[in-house]
Amino acid sequence: MDLLIVGSGFFGLTIAERAAAAGRKVTVIDRRHHIGGNAYTENEPTTGIEVHKYGAHLFHTSNATVWEYVNRFTQFTSYVHRVYTTHKGVVYPLPINLGTINQFFQAAYTPGEARDLIQELAGEFDPKQANNLEERAIGLIGRPLYEAFIRDYTAKQWQTDPKELPAEIISRLPVRYTYDNRYFNDTWEGLPVDGYTAWLERMADHPNIEVKLSTDFFDESQQLNKKSTVGQVPIVYTGPVDRYFDYTEGELSWRTLDFEQDVLDIPDFQGTSVMNYADADAPYTRIHEFKHFHPERADRYPTDKTVIVREYSRFATRADEPYYPVNTAEDRAGLLAYRDLAKGEQDVHFGGRLGTYQYLDMHMAIGSALSMWNNHLA
Ligand code: FAD
Ligand code: NA
Repeated sequence: MDLLIVGSGFFGLTIAERAAAAGRKVTVIDRRHHIGGNAYTENEPTTGIEVHKYGAHLFHTSNATVWEYVNRFTQFTSYVHRVYTTHKGVVYPLPINLGTINQFFQAAYTPGEARDLIQELAGEFDPKQANNLEERAIGLIGRPLYEAFIRDYTAKQWQTDPKELPAEIISRLPVRYTYDNRYFNDTWEGLPVDGYTAWLERMADHPNIEVKLSTDFFDESQQLNKKSTVGQVPIVYTGPVDRYFDYTEGELSWRTLDFEQDVLDIPDFQGTSVMNYADADAPYTRIHEFKHFHPERADRYPTDKTVIVREYSRFATRADEPYYPVNTAEDRAGLLAYRDLAKGEQDVHFGGRLGTYQYLDMHMAIGSALSMWNNHLA
């Protein structure tokens, strides 16, 4: 073995694929029973509907190198992501755009009129002087839209009143003064034609790559553990950086999600793939309906059943899956200390969202793995 990779998410698999193509012998281990990290999907057994097990994943990028690279392993559908939100029993389009504003104010504002109105409403606070998230949000979009679309949703995401949250959590709240409600602005967007897992498996499908699942790097009862491999073989580590160093510099904090899945005996639950719930009376933040991610599979998917998943957000404990970095001042200080420790680790390369404590979209994880390969490993 020339290279040991801890974690089979997009970061680890990109390194594995590049290394194998360059003739290196690679072993990838993952503590989970499946490949692919958080992008893993599986077909719900009774309906065959593809369900994203760790939250809905939409691929989008403006990076030409990444787009060319990912197209070696999968084709993409023409899916375009759009999100709606329910507030006081009425459905509005997101991100906040001219359609949202005119529906909310029961008006027919032109782009210029809407811009003037929002600017006037936002005058209540100076976002640069904001003492908390609420003041900043009001200073950016005004109180009415904040209270309708941001306040309770944010409180559910953070289990915290936005008055108690630091202003830094949001730097901007984009408002579009057109009716464009495409969720992403990137050049390329789509979903893998035959699913994420097929794409991920193709990346690992090379005679130079061996994948060992249900194998934890910190479990000393298995051979490829930290103690017996560090210093013996080059390692790419994509697990949590604080765990690697046994939490000596403190625990980095994360939010996690809980998912509640139901198979319903109806053709269509909500008419779209993602519906947010803006108000406090719904305990979940959003509901995903997976058949709508693949309208082109209408001939294969059942017409009389659908799969929905309610998503709940909360702070993670050590036993939970870490999803989004909380990124408090304490976390940032801890991260710097871990980065120093990481520099001292002989031939261990820390990467991916857990290894660097950063939210990374898939295209960012892949792009950063390609850079690590080109600059440090090739
Ligand atoms: P991961 O996919 O997390 O892979 C890390 C792997 O390391 C895991 O499989 C884990 O089991 C393994 N591991 C950890 N510790 C150990 C250990 N001790 N031993 C062995 N293995 C270990 N991106 C988008 O582009 N679009 C989206 O719409 C999108 N939606 C998202 C929604 C949610 C809810 C979340 C959380 C993320 C979303 N992402 C999205 C981001 C996407 O999931 C990441 O870009 C991607 O997972 C990054 O890959 P990674 O390899 O860095 O990490
Ligand atoms: Na989101």
